[in-house]
Amino acid sequence: MLEVNAVSVSYGKSRIVNNVSFAVDSSEKLAILGRNGVGKTTLLKSLIGLLPMQTGTVRLGDVNLTSLKAYERACQGIAYVPQGREIIPNLTVRENLELGALSHTREIKARMDEVFDYFPILPEHLHRKGGVLSGGQQQQLAIARALMSHPKALLLDEPTEGIQPNVVAEIGNILKRIHKAMRIPIVIVEQNLKFARRLADRFLIIQKGEIVTAGAMENLSGEVIHRFLTV
Ligand SMILES: Nc1ncnc2c1ncn2[C@@H]1O[C@H](COP(=O)(O)OP(=O)(O)OP(=O)(O)O)[C@@H](O)[C@H]1O
Ligand SMILES: [Mg+2]
Repeated sequence: MLEVNAVSVSYGKSRIVNNVSFAVDSSEKLAILGRNGVGKTTLLKSLIGLLPMQTGTVRLGDVNLTSLKAYERACQGIAYVPQGREIIPNLTVRENLELGALSHTREIKARMDEVFDYFPILPEHLHRKGGVLSGGQQQQLAIARALMSHPKALLLDEPTEGIQPNVVAEIGNILKRIHKAMRIPIVIVEQNLKFARRLADRFLIIQKGEIVTAGAMENLSGEVIHRFLTV
């Protein structure tokens, strides 16, 4: 279970995330929705320890992550797939994957075999530079890299951004398989509503850094979409 309680984040004097709370258990996939610039990425970065939280706590299972640094949170099992993928372009696919294994260097081979089961295109490209892969391949590599740590929770920031529709569908199917096999909470920030609907069980919507509505995915109505999501 991932538990986020009363998290607030500011850049200087401007409060970007305000008093956000939610919990996701291992049987669930939560979609965080909201228009551009409402604070979705800021929220995720604060949860993984890349940005300081002014208030609030984040817990993963029995462990309180709040006072831990980003690397320590990663070691506790919180994995992150950043917006824009952030593949290291000059490292090979293999080296990018190794980065995700944290300090589990003796298990790298076994971990790679595990992630190749989800992403069979990656072994074909293992010795190529990450930067030469297509956007869709880089996105798969970014998710695979996150899985290399054998996480206990997976956070993804707009994994479909700039990806071809056929690859988007494939990524959705892979994430479903990962969730079924690993039984870990998945939190996905998404602007692609069709994708979010197919993947997630629940949604929450952020506006100006605050949760304005939340519910089961089947209750995401046209009215709510019009009010909080359409531009
Ligand atoms: N490093 C920064 N310093 C100051 N303000 C920032 C910084 N990064 C983001 N912001 C501001 O914080 C607000 C929230 O940004 P954030 O990236 O979290 O939004 P988002 O919901 O992820 O948007 P998008 O859908 O475009 O990815 C925006 O107004 C943005 O301009
Ligand atoms: Mg963002």
